[in-house]
Amino acid sequence: MQSTQNLSIALVVFGVTGDLTRRKLIPAIYQLFKDKQIPFNLTIIGFARRPWTNEIMKENLEQGISAYSRSQPIEEIVAEKLLNSMKYFQSSFEEDRGYLDLYEFFSKNKFSGVIYYLATPPKEYMKIIQQLGKNNLPSINGWTRIVVEKPYGNDLSSALELEKNLHLFFKESEIFRIDHYLGKETVQNILVFRFANGIFEPLWNNHYIDHVQITVAETIGVGTRAGYFENAGIIRDMFANHLLQLLTLTAMEVPFAFNADSVRDEKLKVLKSIRPLVGKSAIENSIRAQYGPGIIGNTLIQGYKDEPGVLHTSTTETYLAIKLFIDNWRWAGVPFYIRCGKRLPVQATEIVIHFKQVPLSLFEWKNMAGDAPNTLVLRLQPDEGISLTFGAKKPGHENQISPVLMDFCYQDAFGSEPPEAYERLLLDCMTGDATLFTRTDEVIMQWEFTQNILDAWKQTPIEKIPEYQAGNWGPMEADLFIQADGRNWKNPKIG
Ligand code: BG6
Repeated sequence: MQSTQNLSIALVVFGVTGDLTRRKLIPAIYQLFKDKQIPFNLTIIGFARRPWTNEIMKENLEQGISAYSRSQPIEEIVAEKLLNSMKYFQSSFEEDRGYLDLYEFFSKNKFSGVIYYLATPPKEYMKIIQQLGKNNLPSINGWTRIVVEKPYGNDLSSALELEKNLHLFFKESEIFRIDHYLGKETVQNILVFRFANGIFEPLWNNHYIDHVQITVAETIGVGTRAGYFENAGIIRDMFANHLLQLLTLTAMEVPFAFNADSVRDEKLKVLKSIRPLVGKSAIENSIRAQYGPGIIGNTLIQGYKDEPGVLHTSTTETYLAIKLFIDNWRWAGVPFYIRCGKRLPVQATEIVIHFKQVPLSLFEWKNMAGDAPNTLVLRLQPDEGISLTFGAKKPGHENQISPVLMDFCYQDAFGSEPPEAYERLLLDCMTGDATLFTRTDEVIMQWEFTQNILDAWKQTPIEKIPEYQAGNWGPMEADLFIQADGRNWKNPKIG
């Protein structure tokens, strides 16, 4: 990490008129300003196609801060100060003009470093990267960094192509690939929980763990993003990045130091050790489905095929469950069941560690705790916390074991909501800490694993994708899938 004293940084946001900038980036920067977390001069330049002026940009982003900022009500003076310092550059992404303007600006105004942030639709990435390179922008001022949002390519070959282009003009240490799940406080806490406590790690292996479940459930549907989602499906949208990253943090070995390369080296080893799912095994170990109409809470929900922009013949999956194995000494024989879905009954991200049964049931007691009394649940969002279930003697003359809970809740323990992922990620990028960003080899390994499944699906097309009712925990097939192994999904609590 670099010293931040006397730094002046320019942040160029490509796609400043878009949703990501309005909902996430600028509210996060506002919060950092408000909390006095930015110890250097920051100049933000918005770059986009729309014929906006500084004033129009300011109005739009002000609304974004008001609507999406973490701490409400907002402090007008802080927001004003931030927005007044912003500049708008109007240009298409492929023409030279805007880049020449940027060059001129940077020739006249010197900065310690410049960050180029790709917050546009992914189809623009290549044009922007090419133009930055062609116009010598990566080398014009002090250090340079480029932030690339997901989706990082649409498959293995497009990811490799993007990679090749980025490396024409940027060194690996200058490329910051965002997986916003890594910016979440509770996701970072997975490593603290595992490696800052002496009592859990000795149990964290195939001697004591029966299986692991990772669930990312959302109540939202595709909303206005059908154009993107139809080509992506949940496998590219969530599984190939967020879920595989959660898997790496759950399964990795202790890094020799907590720095970008050591942590990412260990995550990479996990990705390399996942047993590939190819052909028949990909089909047998993956369950995909699409939401149909249903009810969530009290709201009537339309099916995926009725969403604007979706064809009635669509076979795009909005739910995916996968069973995989990590072939290394720690995890040999331990299945990981990983699932994600839209329009499920509740928004919740959880990792559940199911410990093995005791080797022999000693007493002739009635085990009310069920078959696997010891589960450790890492609740990543919302209701952030960690709970451990174990069996205790139920009071009374009958010998009964009842499941009880030890619970840690972030809100109760620390009295505040964790910061937004983008706050942490933006700050880390400004200070040059890449620990929470994915490295090229990780992204490529994620795609290699995912591509095999995509290929298998393509070779075995389905005419009609299984449907689940919106508001249900996925399709019946997913229950049968895990039950075939004598296990059940542990669903996050509703409400
Ligand atoms: C994004 C996906 O990366 O993550 C969205 O594109 C998804 O489809 C979102 O809704 C979920 O993020 P979070 O932080 O709300 O869990």
